[in-house]
Amino acid sequence: MKRLEGKVSLITGAAQGIGLATALKFAQEGSTVIVCDVKQAGVDDAVKQCEALGVQALGFVMDVTQRDMVDAVVAQVQQRLGRIDVLVNNAGITQDARLQKMTLEQFDRVIDVNLRGVFHCAQAVADGMTAQGSGVILNASSVVGIYGNFGQTNYAASKFGVIGFTKTWSRELGPKGVRVNAVAPGFITTPILSTIPDKVISEMEHRVPLRRLGRPEEIANVYAFLASDEASYVNGAVIEVSGGMSV
Ligand SMILES: NC(=O)c1ccc[n+]([C@@H]2O[C@H](COP(=O)([O-])OP(=O)(O)OC[C@H]3O[C@@H](n4cnc5c(N)ncnc54)[C@H](O)[C@@H]3O)[C@@H](O)[C@H]2O)c1
Repeated sequence: MKRLEGKVSLITGAAQGIGLATALKFAQEGSTVIVCDVKQAGVDDAVKQCEALGVQALGFVMDVTQRDMVDAVVAQVQQRLGRIDVLVNNAGITQDARLQKMTLEQFDRVIDVNLRGVFHCAQAVADGMTAQGSGVILNASSVVGIYGNFGQTNYAASKFGVIGFTKTWSRELGPKGVRVNAVAPGFITTPILSTIPDKVISEMEHRVPLRRLGRPEEIANVYAFLASDEASYVNGAVIEVSGGMSV
């Protein structure tokens, strides 16, 4: 039995990186996959890859910062499939600068996507999930949302905030059958790291007891577990998946 058979899962930022790996893992586990991203070509490609794994997949160009777009996608999915069982709030960006250099635009943009976007999507699916008496919301935090990081005032605030959302919503929605958890990845090899110099990457690798960065599939595996009924008693948790870098 595939672990997500019969479920409808909506994944934001699913055109590449961890979001794409999660879409493919969920498809392998039998879930219908709703691929959402700002990149049309990436959405189309991800839908094809999911379909090739034998599941139904729908793709939407959806910017998580645009509430009307989010509401329209959720309404369409509800209309066509009747339910959303899992929301993976994966879309996220960085715009790094140290405190004294960070512009208000950099601050606002990262908060808008990483924090307000997560709020938009969760609020849009919450009524449907509580009405059906079941659902799972998974939020992408980061080790930076636990420990902070040089040059990431905006990103750290957003990822700490996501943990606050997770704990709050797990209290609010838990009694109605909806579980809410966060994953805090360490450094994972995706395009988000493309601006980081090689020297810094090798320093990062050295800080990890496993002596390597993570792969997107290694985060997707944890999302799949948390989305599945195997995690039926996991609620309000923040699961660090970092190769032990904080030990
Ligand atoms: N890669 C890492 O090392 C790492 C570590 C910790 C946490 N994370 C978090 O995991 C998530 C995925 O990271 P990734 O490395 O795969 O990133 P990525 O940059 O490879 O992919 C992010 C995806 O989100 C999409 N996106 C950006 N803005 C969007 C918006 N407004 N609406 C909808 N989609 C949007 C992008 O188009 C892209 O496809 C992010 O929330 C990130 O903060 C990543």
